[in-house]
Amino acid sequence: MNKLKTIQDVIAMKTSGEKITMLTAYDASMAALIADTGVEILLVGDSLGMVLLGYDSTVPVTMDEMIHHSSAVRRGAPDSFVIGDMPFGSYQTDVYDAIVNGNRFLKEAGCDAVKLEGGLEVCETVRALVQAGIPVMGHVGLTPQTASQLGGYKVQGKDEASAIKLLEEAKALTEAGVFGIVLECIPRELAQVVTDTIAVPTIGIGAGSHCDGQVLVTHDLLGMFEKFIPSFVKTYTHLAPLMKENISTYINEVKGGAFPDDEHSFSSDIDLKGLLKKK
Ligand code: KIV
Repeated sequence: MNKLKTIQDVIAMKTSGEKITMLTAYDASMAALIADTGVEILLVGDSLGMVLLGYDSTVPVTMDEMIHHSSAVRRGAPDSFVIGDMPFGSYQTDVYDAIVNGNRFLKEAGCDAVKLEGGLEVCETVRALVQAGIPVMGHVGLTPQTASQLGGYKVQGKDEASAIKLLEEAKALTEAGVFGIVLECIPRELAQVVTDTIAVPTIGIGAGSHCDGQVLVTHDLLGMFEKFIPSFVKTYTHLAPLMKENISTYINEVKGGAFPDDEHSFSSDIDLKGLLKKK
């Protein structure tokens, strides 16, 4: 049973000093597996566009795809705190669209909250979502949906001006009502200042150990997605080679006749040959 039920429970973890763990989940079986480990938050990240759906970036991901996967995660982990990532285009057009799409995450997929990327430009939207009863997690630093505007997938907030801008964005998002903020790919010193300044938890990814919590893409942590591994990712195990090795064994056993054996098939007491002769 997950101990986080509300956004107040999430915020309380900052106060208590217990680190928050968050991992991505995109389907019911992985969600169930992660929920069993005690991870506090499941994020249905739009990273699923690259990891599961084969897109080159998160930009093509649609609302329907996010609802499809978020619903599966909710079914797999009925007691977990689940956050749905608002995809590119689902909250930038206007506040009305953002509320309609935010509602879909809560009503259709059963998410507890949504996450969206951006700083000052999304504060009005965050305020409107929160007023509409939709809890929001912010996301600043490297924001993959607008990576091309940021000069690609690289560390943000390295110079004085951009560091101050990021701190101001985090403060403004907190003021607008977010219950937490993802800090992606920024120097650990800056993450520490942000963490010490704002009242809501910071969840770091490539942002050092001073954040109130950490998030990783589960497929990266487990070594299941080999196409692109950011340098800040710790790969705890390498499942991809192991998966390929076992699939190769299966191929060899099928071709060589070793699978299926008697243990993995069914038998019948009927004298089928005799029966056929009688006919
Ligand atoms: O889409 C995602 O998985 C994310 C996390 C990496 C923070 O936004």
